[in-house]
Amino acid sequence: MKIEGASVLVTGANRGLGKAFVEELLLRGAALIHASGRDLESLEAVSALDRDRIRPVPLDVTDAVGIQELAADTPTLDVLINNAGVDCPVPILGGDDMADLRRAMEVNYFGVLNMSRAFAPVLARSQASAIINLGSMAGFIHVADNTGYSASKAAQLMLSQGLRGQLAGQGTQVLQVLPGFIDTDMGARFPMPKASARSVAAAALDALEAGEDLVLPDVFARMSYDAFVDRPDEVMRKPEAVIGALVQRLMASQPAT
Ligand SMILES: NC(=O)c1ccc[n+]([C@@H]2O[C@H](COP(=O)([O-])OP(=O)(O)OC[C@H]3O[C@@H](n4cnc5c(N)ncnc54)[C@H](OP(=O)(O)O)[C@@H]3O)[C@@H](O)[C@H]2O)c1
Repeated sequence: MKIEGASVLVTGANRGLGKAFVEELLLRGAALIHASGRDLESLEAVSALDRDRIRPVPLDVTDAVGIQELAADTPTLDVLINNAGVDCPVPILGGDDMADLRRAMEVNYFGVLNMSRAFAPVLARSQASAIINLGSMAGFIHVADNTGYSASKAAQLMLSQGLRGQLAGQGTQVLQVLPGFIDTDMGARFPMPKASARSVAAAALDALEAGEDLVLPDVFARMSYDAFVDRPDEVMRKPEAVIGALVQRLMASQPAT
């Protein structure tokens, strides 16, 4: 699948990795970019990058009705990038309610499901089409104090696998992106070396164009995946010990940002 000449929808395009995707898509010659975000005002800087090729779209990925309306209003689409996501560093035990834990599932799992259900028929009309889902290494190795996030990204990982099987018949490629730490607002609380948002977006689009179904776009993602493949039993039983050792190796090998 080629980005040049393609029409692409990016969720959470107003900042962070979503904005980096828009910049990288422009560079690669995408014909039309539906840059979606929760409010139009927050999309102004992104829209100003190229007013001819960027269409700002108000969209909350937890709003199933709004998503259906947008899909009905989008006659053609080649690539859907499910980028919008939320962190969830709250305790799973105690606390007043489970609002944050539910929200992580609503955005990171049901948001991706809602978008995929609504846009699968639109993508089916394209000659070549794809869905890119932004997961995390936290979806295959549990990250301490962020169980809600890990659980939601693990659910998304299974969703991607299900979608890949379901959409193969209509020729829609499903690419799962599993980054480590990225230098965005979400990544700001982690005091370790991080990949730039542009490098992650570029690696994801390279993988898409190469026909891949999985990409580990940075060094920590690849270290984590190697541990998952080489020592699955340890990852299942003692994920925190595995992550702790990986972070120490990362910190020793690169300066922190
Ligand atoms: N940063 C990291 O270290 C890291 C690592 C691995 C994976 N990821 C994943 O990469 C993706 C992008 O993250 P990021 O680092 O760019 O995070 P970020 O800087 O916090 O940006 C998150 C984006 O998601 C949007 N969003 C949140 N809830 C939404 C909703 N209900 N509807 C529509 N948009 C919503 C935000 O919009 P508002 O501006 O309106 O809040 C924002 O545009 C996420 O899926 C994240 O889980 C990030």
